[in-house]
Amino acid sequence: MEIEQVQKLEKALNGSMKQYASPEDRAKLIEWVRKGAPDKEWKNVVKPIVEKNCAKCHGVIPSIPDLTKKEVIKELAKVDTGATIEQLTRVSHIHLFGMAFIFMLLGFVFSFSIGINKIVKSILIFTPFAFQFIDISAWWLTKYWPDFAWFVIIGGFGYFTASVIMILISLYQMWIMKPREGNAWHQD
Ligand code: HEC
Repeated sequence: MEIEQVQKLEKALNGSMKQYASPEDRAKLIEWVRKGAPDKEWKNVVKPIVEKNCAKCHGVIPSIPDLTKKEVIKELAKVDTGATIEQLTRVSHIHLFGMAFIFMLLGFVFSFSIGINKIVKSILIFTPFAFQFIDISAWWLTKYWPDFAWFVIIGGFGYFTASVIMILISLYQMWIMKPREGNAWHQD
């Protein structure tokens, strides 16, 4: 899969900000961005365009980036490479522990369910952990090979499905199903 790597500035100039600059000015800004936003063109080429077209908002409204500052506009001209390693590490850590704990509790409750083949039961309890591993591995792989994004979807779908089956069976058996004489959990 070919993905086009576009930074926020060019995306905005071809999208929601298109109306604010003439085609010539936009072309000059995009050219500057594609050259890697060189400092030497900032003062004579880029700054005047920004001040003419963009500064009445960007530079006045506090919640949007102040494009009259070179450092700010250069930041928006950088290619977005997705989540950083630090972000991935943090989110992976939280998810691995948080979700594994939820799946463990769910599996524990579900292990008391009745009338389900032991092997099927074991596979169901194991499934969310396997798909969670696929999901989180795929986050990392996607950073370098975008096609792995599919495995994020597959991973999420996998543990969602297994969890829903276990939750519904557990809730049904706990709350709706009438205890019958002879059920293991009914004997005393
Ligand atoms: C009339 C006010 C206005 C003008 C003029 C304007 N912008 Fe914006 N711009 C906004 C607002 C409001 C947002 C935030 C909402 C949005 O993204 O649509 C924004 C968002 C952006 C973003 C996205 C910032 C981000 O953090 O993702 C970029 C890039 C941008 N503008 C560039 C420009 C450029 C370049 C110009 C001049 C050619 C320009 N804008 C002119 C109001 C304006």
